[in-house]
Formats: sequence, C-alpha cells, structure tokens
Amino acid sequence: MRAGWYEKTGPASDVIVVGEIPVPQPGPGEILIRLHASGINPSDYKRRGNTRAAMEFPRVIPHSDGAGVIAALGAGVQGFHAGDRVWCYNAQWARPFGTAAEYVVLPRRLVRPLPAGASFIQGACFGIPAMTGYHAVRVAGPVEGKTIYIPGATGRVGAYAVQFAKWRGARVIASTGGGGDAQNAVRALGADVVLDRNDSDLAARLMAETDGRGVDRVIDVDLPGNIVLDEKIVAENGAVVSFGAASTPTLQVSMSGRRARNFSIHLIFVYLLDDATAAATCAGIEAAELDGALKHRIAGVFPLNDLAKAHAFAETTSGTGHVVVEI
Ligand SMILES: NC(=O)c1ccc[n+]([C@@H]2O[C@H](COP(=O)([O-])OP(=O)(O)OC[C@H]3O[C@@H](n4cnc5c(N)ncnc54)[C@H](OP(=O)(O)O)[C@@H]3O)[C@@H](O)[C@H]2O)c1
Repeated sequence: MRAGWYEKTGPASDVIVVGEIPVPQPGPGEILIRLHASGINPSDYKRRGNTRAAMEFPRVIPHSDGAGVIAALGAGVQGFHAGDRVWCYNAQWARPFGTAAEYVVLPRRLVRPLPAGASFIQGACFGIPAMTGYHAVRVAGPVEGKTIYIPGATGRVGAYAVQFAKWRGARVIASTGGGGDAQNAVRALGADVVLDRNDSDLAARLMAETDGRGVDRVIDVDLPGNIVLDEKIVAENGAVVSFGAASTPTLQVSMSGRRARNFSIHLIFVYLLDDATAAATCAGIEAAELDGALKHRIAGVFPLNDLAKAHAFAETTSGTGHVVVEI
C-alpha cells in the first residue's frame, strides 16, 4: 500500500517519506479500513518536528484522524460490515501506524460509523478537533442558557466548540485576532457576539456583553496566556475549560480572589478519554452532524504524495481550518 512515514524527527521536507509498504492485516477484534482522508492536527506536526524527544517507534505513519471504508473485519468484530463508511480517532496515539496511508488496522472501539451526508474529508476532522470541542462543551455543561466565551474560535477545536455550545443552547461570545474576515467566519459558525481578542478593552467588552456579571464559562485555547483576562471576566461559580497552552506551559493563578468566587479550572486531554466518555463524545458528534448543526472549515486538501507539503502548510496556517490528506 501507499503510505507516508518518518523514521526520524525534523522538518517535514527533511523527514517525511511516501512509499510502498505491505497492507496490514486485522487481528481478532480489529478492523482494516481503506482510508480516503486523513486529518492533520498540531499534535501530528509538533511530534514530527520535535527533535528533542526520542522516537517512540522506529517508523511512524502519522495522523490520528481519518475516514474511509471498511475493507475487512477481524474475528469477533460485531456491528460493522465490509464496505461500511467509517471515521476513526486515536489511530496514532500510543501506536506507530496512523492514517496517512491507504490502509490502517484499528481496534473496534476506535472506529465509528460515518454519518450519512458527511464526506470522508469532513469525517477526517471528527477525531481530535471535533472530539475536543465536544468534550470541552460537555465538561463546561450543562450549558443551556449559559454564556460561554470562546477565544481562538477560528481554530480547528475552537470552531467546533462554538458550534457544539450553540447546539447545546448556550449564548456564545467568541473572539479572534484574525481581523474582519476571521470575525465573519466565526459569525458564520453561529457565534452570537464576535470580539477582537487583541482589543485593549476586551475585558470591559466581555463584562458589558454580560451586563457586568461576567461569562459563566470559558473554553480556552491558551489558558496560561489568557488567565489574567479570564480572572477578570468569569462570573461567580464560573469555570474555565482549558485544552491548550500555546504561549507558555506554566499557569499562574491568583488564588484568594478565585476561591471566594468558586472559580474552577478543568484541564482536558482528548487522547485519554475513558471508553464510555469517548463513545458518548463520538455519538454526540454524529448526532450533531446528522442534525445539520456542523460546518467544517477546510483550509487545504493535499494528495498523499504531497504529505510533507501538507504538514508544512498546516504548521504555517493556524486559524484557517483543517488540513486534510486525500487518499
Ligand atoms: N487538550 C487536548 O486534548 C487538545 C486537543 C486538540 C488540540 N489541542 C491543542 O490546542 C491548540 C489548538 O489546536 P487547533 O487544532 O484548534 O489549532 P488551530 O486550528 O491552529 O487554532 C489555534 C487558534 O488559536 C488562536 N489563538 C492563538 N493564540 C491565542 C491566544 N493566546 N488566545 C486566544 N486564541 C489564540 C488562533 O486564533 P485567532 O488568531 O483567530 O485568534 C487560532 O485560530 C494546539 O496547541 C493543540 O496542540 C489540545
């Protein structure tokens, strides 16, 4: 089969190879998927580019997210048939061979039915981005009638968080640093109010939008970078759900004021959801998709032969949407 891989870490154009390797065979409880789309996420290019850490495996086929058609079922697999359209997640989490290939073998629990109407390219966005956005809103919930502030709403995760929060009945105030076009893109996702995250009066604007009460929840792409703002704009008994730390890994919290106001912080990590939470998260995404509640922002689609170019593009176009490899 055709596949892309790397055997050492470094810049995409230096380390990514596309070539031929044998098709893997499914063991008991496993499924062989003929992939048609493979989604790229920050974890994929950050890991490939991180030369400080040793390789976990001698060869890595990158990408955790993908969509395609079931090619074969291992012994004992129930609930699927050859030819079913599916999406998958965590394919390259603690495993060497992900979805940047014509075929992948995965345990049954990582394979999900692709909702009717969703394309393979859209299905390749469900894994890390949609699961993180959905889980963030669930952890923030119940959100019906609550006001949620979502910075980084142009991001792969942020855009889904906006849409799941709206789908669950929240009022969403979003922000972007990307200017007018980016603000329009976030409005098109359904945000009720879109602010400029670089506005020096952002805290005052958020307080004004909530009649001085503050927002009930924040779903934060960069909690260490935004904590000073969050402490000013979260309402009493409010909470922040954090999924990222782009600026610095260290979080400095002002304890005394926060204790008095029952401020809580949830740090989420989508790769390690327990099986029941992961299954509920996947089912929620599929239901939202079937409900017509999701828009998918695709920034670029590349052929597998251009895997290195696809990685380089994804690394340099943060905030524009999903980068997908078509296979
Ligand atoms: N914890 C988890 O399980 C998990 C899962 C997925 C991703 N992540 C992490 O989450 C981060 C985002 O991933 P992604 O795929 O959504 O990336 P992305 O598509 O590149 O989006 C990142 C967005 O963050 C915004 N941004 C950057 N710095 C910001 C700041 N200081 N405050 C507010 N917004 C800021 C940018 O929006 P504007 O410039 O338009 O404002 C950009 O759209 C990455 O670091 C990734 O590794 C974590």
